[in-house]
Amino acid sequence: MALKIEKDALTGVESTGHSWDGIQELNNPLPNWWLLIWGFCILTALIQFVLYPSFPSISTYWHGTSNYSSRVDVIKAVDDIQASHAQYVTKIAAMPITEIPKNKELYDYALLSGKVTFANNCQPCHGVAGSGRPGFPVLASDAWLWGGTLDALQQTITYGIRSGHPQARDSQMPRFGVDGILTAAQISTVAEYVQFLEGKPRPGANLAAAKQLFMDNCSACHSPEGNGNRDVGAPRYHDRVFLYGADYDSVVRQVTNPRMGVMPAWTYRLDTPTIKSVALYVHSLGGGE
Ligand code: HEC
Ligand code: HEC
Repeated sequence: MALKIEKDALTGVESTGHSWDGIQELNNPLPNWWLLIWGFCILTALIQFVLYPSFPSISTYWHGTSNYSSRVDVIKAVDDIQASHAQYVTKIAAMPITEIPKNKELYDYALLSGKVTFANNCQPCHGVAGSGRPGFPVLASDAWLWGGTLDALQQTITYGIRSGHPQARDSQMPRFGVDGILTAAQISTVAEYVQFLEGKPRPGANLAAAKQLFMDNCSACHSPEGNGNRDVGAPRYHDRVFLYGADYDSVVRQVTNPRMGVMPAWTYRLDTPTIKSVALYVHSLGGGE
């Protein structure tokens, strides 16, 4: 059926023939400003299509005549950052760790980068800013199992503790209960001496017998006064910081079947300047010696 074209009486513009509730749609031309913008958009799209990566093909894609790639931009940005760090990193690599704090600028850089390394690698075990938790020593206090000097820290972090690395720090507390070295009664008694050394003697404890057991079995590693021994990583009892818990039951559990903490060797994961930086950061947490 042929459309009956009517003209709008008021404007003289042709109607499209569409009418809703008596309102006519008129066939007005598109405004020129609109057409111009539209044309401009099509043109720029075509130009960009040619200049930049745009169209996929089966095995590759149109790379664009400008050969632009955002990945190349990222690689360059990362290279730039590494180049700006290189001046510090090479100096940190070359210097003994104890010399670094004498150079303010270098030290500031190391602490900052050590903090980031710590948050990414160490925090899951040692807690925020080395606050520690049971089994994972506090690194922000002056209670050290193996030593808190910069050199000691660098060595611990590089090779780990009982990590299996040939240069790892290593020691084993005998399994007094499990291996039948002491009876359950003897373990209860010697635990009372540990409590005494911690400064909280238990009422009714047989301290003479307890002391004898301690001297015979424990003092070689923990020292007669319970001061510990860093050569074997044996903790000091007087410290507020306890690895496995300071209460009587925890001590009995440790003597019966000792847990031996394992700390990974970071030499497999981090390069030397990064390990030095994180050691400087740990040292700065408050317990550094
Ligand atoms: C998988 C858990 C784990 C991670 C991750 C970890 N540690 Fe440890 N770390 C331990 C344990 C467990 C010990 C205690 C070992 C022991 O009982 O002697 C320890 C001990 C240490 C010690 C010795 C403390 C002392 O008193 O002598 C230092 C220093 C240390 N960690 C630093 C770090 C740093 C720095 C990182 C990150 C690069 C890190 N650790 C990551 C588990 C971890
Ligand atoms: C060969 C050395 C050695 C001997 C002997 C030894 N210990 Fe230990 N002891 C250690 C080491 C090392 C640790 C730390 C374990 C760790 O870091 O995971 C430890 C940890 C402990 C702890 C845990 C302390 C804490 O901070 O949580 C207690 C308690 C303890 N020993 C008591 C004893 C008692 C009691 C005896 C004697 C019956 C004894 N030890 C004998 C090496 C020894």
